Amino acid sequence: MVTDTRRRPLRDLRISVTDRCNFRCTYCMPKEIFNREWEFLARDELLTFEEIGRLARVFAGLGVHKVRITGGEPLLRRDLEVLIADLSSIHGIDDLTLTTNGSLLARKAETLAAAGLDRVSVSLDSLDDDVFRAMNDVDFPVARVLEGIDAAAAAGLTPVKVNAVVKRGVNDHTIVEMAEHFRGTGHILRFIEFMDVGTTNGWRLDDVVPAADIVGAIHAVHPLEAIPPAYPGEVARRFRYQDGAGEIGVITSVSNPFCATCTRARISADGFLYTCLFANKGLDLRPLVRSDMSDEAIADVVGQVWASRDDRYSEVRSEHTDGLPKVEMSYIGG
Ligand code: GTP
Ligand code: 5AD
Ligand code: SF4
Ligand code: SF4
Repeated sequence: MVTDTRRRPLRDLRISVTDRCNFRCTYCMPKEIFNREWEFLARDELLTFEEIGRLARVFAGLGVHKVRITGGEPLLRRDLEVLIADLSSIHGIDDLTLTTNGSLLARKAETLAAAGLDRVSVSLDSLDDDVFRAMNDVDFPVARVLEGIDAAAAAGLTPVKVNAVVKRGVNDHTIVEMAEHFRGTGHILRFIEFMDVGTTNGWRLDDVVPAADIVGAIHAVHPLEAIPPAYPGEVARRFRYQDGAGEIGVITSVSNPFCATCTRARISADGFLYTCLFANKGLDLRPLVRSDMSDEAIADVVGQVWASRDDRYSEVRSEHTDGLPKVEMSYIGG
C-alpha cells in the first residue's frame, strides 16, 4: 500500500474512457466552447482497453479496490462492456462502477450488468423538463433519463445514485421536487455544489448553493438526520429521512472540502495520471504502457507520483489559484 505526503492511501481509480459527450451541460461543456472547433482526442490517442486493463491491474497492486469509469459520456465508447468484463475480473477490485448521463442506459444496462458492472451513478439535474433541457443544452428530455435509471435498477446495478449539480437561479427551485420523487425508491439522490473545475464554465461563487441550504430546504418538508459515511473517505455527506424513506447525499466541495480523506487518482482518456480533479499537470502513462516496461516498473513510477502527492485544491481554493490553467471536467472525468 502506498500513501501520499498527507498519509492518504491510494484507494480509488477513476478512468475516463472518452472526452466526448452527447450533452453540453452549461456547467461542464458550454456549447460556445465545445463546438465544431474544439479539438477532441483522436482515436489513436485514447488508451486501448488492453492498456486500461493493464494499468488497472498495476493500480490494484498498489491498493486500489474501487474503479469508476467516467468520461465525457463513457457509454459513447464502443464495446465498453468488453472493458467492464476485463476490469471485473481483476483481483482486489471489489467495486466497479460508472458515472453516466443516462441517455444510453436504457439500451445498455443489461449488457453492462452481465459484463460485471456493480452499479451506476446517473447525472440528472432536474425533473422539470424545461429546466433539464436547458441545462443539458441539447434539449434532452427527463423521461429518457428516468427510463435509463429504471433499466439500471431492473438490471441490478444498485443502489443507483442520482447526481444533481445545483446552480443558483437555474435549478435550485426544483430541489424539493426531486427529493420527493426519489424518496422511497431505493435510489440515492445526491446534490453537488457547482464546482470551479476547468476554465470554461464561467464559475462564480454566487452561483453556488451551499449544501446546508439544500439540506435545509428538504428538511423543512421531510425531516432529515445526518448519518455517518458508508465507507472511509466517502465524497458525499449522508442524511436519512427520519420517516425511513431512504437517504440523500450532498457533495460539498466548495462549502466544506473533503481533501483530507481524498484517496482518488484519475486517468484521462489519453492516459495522463492526475492526482487531483483540479490539477493542471498530469503524468503521461501512455508511453510507459506502450513501451516494453514491466508492470513492476510502471507500478514504481505510479507509486512515486502518489508518494509525493500533496494536492488539496478545494481546501486552498483562493485568489491565488484563480485563473490558473486547470483541466476540463469532460477530459479528466469528474
Ligand atoms: P460513490 O462511489 O457512489 O460514493 O460515488 P462518488 O461520489 O465517488 O462519485 P461520482 O462520480 O458520483 O461523483 C459525484 C460528484 O463528486 C461529481 O461531481 C464529482 O466530480 C465529485 N467528486 C468526486 N470525487 C471528487 C474529488 O476528489 N474532489 C472533488 N472536488 N469532487 C469530487
Ligand atoms: N460542478 C459540479 N459537478 C459537476 N459535474 C460536471 N461538471 C461539474 C461542475 N462544474 C458533475 C456531473 C456528474 C459528475 C461526474 O460531475 O453532472 O454528475
Ligand atoms: Fe456530458 Fe456529464 Fe459533462 Fe454533462 S456533465 S456535458 S453529461 S460529461
Ligand atoms: Fe481530492 Fe483534489 Fe478533490 Fe481535494 S480537490 S478532494 S485533493 S480531487
